[in-house]
Amino acid sequence: MNKIAVIGAGHVGLVTAACLAKLGNKVVCVDNDRKKIIDLVKDGVQKKRLAFSFSIEKSTRISRIIFICVGTPSKPDGEADLSAIEAVTAEVAKAMNGYKLLVEKSTVPVMTGEWMKRTINLIRKKNADFDVAANPEFLKEGSAISDFMKPERIVIGTESERAKKILEEIYQPIKAPIIFTDVKSAELIKHASNSFLAVKISYINAISQICEKVGADVESIAKGMGYDSRIGKAFLSPGVGYGGSCFPKDVAAFIHLAKEVGYDFSLLKAVQKINQEQISLIFKKIKKYLWTLKNKKIGILGLSFKPDTDDIREAPSLKIMERLLSEEAILSVYDPKAMEETKKIFPRRTIYCKNPYQVCKGAELLLVLTEWEEFKKLDLKRVKKLLGKPHLIDGRNIYEPEKMKKLGFVYEGVGR
Ligand code: UDX
Repeated sequence: MNKIAVIGAGHVGLVTAACLAKLGNKVVCVDNDRKKIIDLVKDGVQKKRLAFSFSIEKSTRISRIIFICVGTPSKPDGEADLSAIEAVTAEVAKAMNGYKLLVEKSTVPVMTGEWMKRTINLIRKKNADFDVAANPEFLKEGSAISDFMKPERIVIGTESERAKKILEEIYQPIKAPIIFTDVKSAELIKHASNSFLAVKISYINAISQICEKVGADVESIAKGMGYDSRIGKAFLSPGVGYGGSCFPKDVAAFIHLAKEVGYDFSLLKAVQKINQEQISLIFKKIKKYLWTLKNKKIGILGLSFKPDTDDIREAPSLKIMERLLSEEAILSVYDPKAMEETKKIFPRRTIYCKNPYQVCKGAELLLVLTEWEEFKKLDLKRVKKLLGKPHLIDGRNIYEPEKMKKLGFVYEGVGR
């Protein structure tokens, strides 16, 4: 049985630890946040293969394979902050009592593996042999376990035959093509993949802007493009732009990294710019109907960066709320899951409602910012009756423009 330590019990680390245990390995998951561990211990004890710890030293000693899943947040200039990776690597190196395979799972810029090797070589005892491998995760929030267990591909980057064999064996129960490559290429695959998806989103958002100028329908265009299997249907939904804990951070980090190595990644800079413009466009639409915003009630449906999560990190809703509040609008908002988190950021001039209909009461304009299923099924006649003025701006194109006009709304989606 493989003995594995997973360092970092965040979103990625927990899923990785639990799934590796399910695959038949003995796993210890390490985090310095004791509360998070205590909550999970109860569950972990039942499954005898999963244990939790807050000691990197002890976990390293009892494990042969160490997955590093700690955070790599953005610095103000976009560069990834790798201090947690460095600290963990150094602690593991200090505790090494024999061969260890260190596996990077966090999203890291290319060359991180090289730095890890250097760090370990400076610290380790001479008899402590080691390898470093990159095995990037491609987990989406809300479907992380199935993304792990049924991935479309597994990427393993390492120069060592021994490391390659160990990881191949770990993933052997999963049926998916494995791409073996060197550490640097594996690191780049992750950044290149996430940034490409961001390119797709900004591309369709750019098309949506042209559509608005000429009176075409971006949704039909996305459909017409998506049937071409070389393009594909996924990630062609226009709207208020991408948010979340990955895309904004990864695109910024990739631009920064490219600059460091002497390449101006102008394509990705444009992707960022378009993503920001989508927010300004929504704002312009609001102003078009309401002129000034002071003391006007504006309703917002959807706060999370995407449906089925309470995560508001880099959510478009936050930027829009901030701008509306800076012009002294009064907001009434609702989200099935993300209210508590949002309340912490915007405690004032915002009414946190019990349901979507309460949001609408007397609002001069209603904004849809996340495509929750619940919002698609609203009683729109009731919504219309409740609104003070029938303005509806649909930032995710969840309603049909013709139907909305028939119902008497002054309706605008994005790019149609
Ligand atoms: C993403 C990647 O999909 C995943 O592979 C990686 O490991 C982590 O980052 P996640 O951030 O959970 O996952 O969500 P995702 O579903 O990819 O959506 C990201 C953002 O893009 C959301 O704000 C979403 O609303 C937006 N988006 C997505 C669009 O605006 N249009 C689309 O067509 C698709």
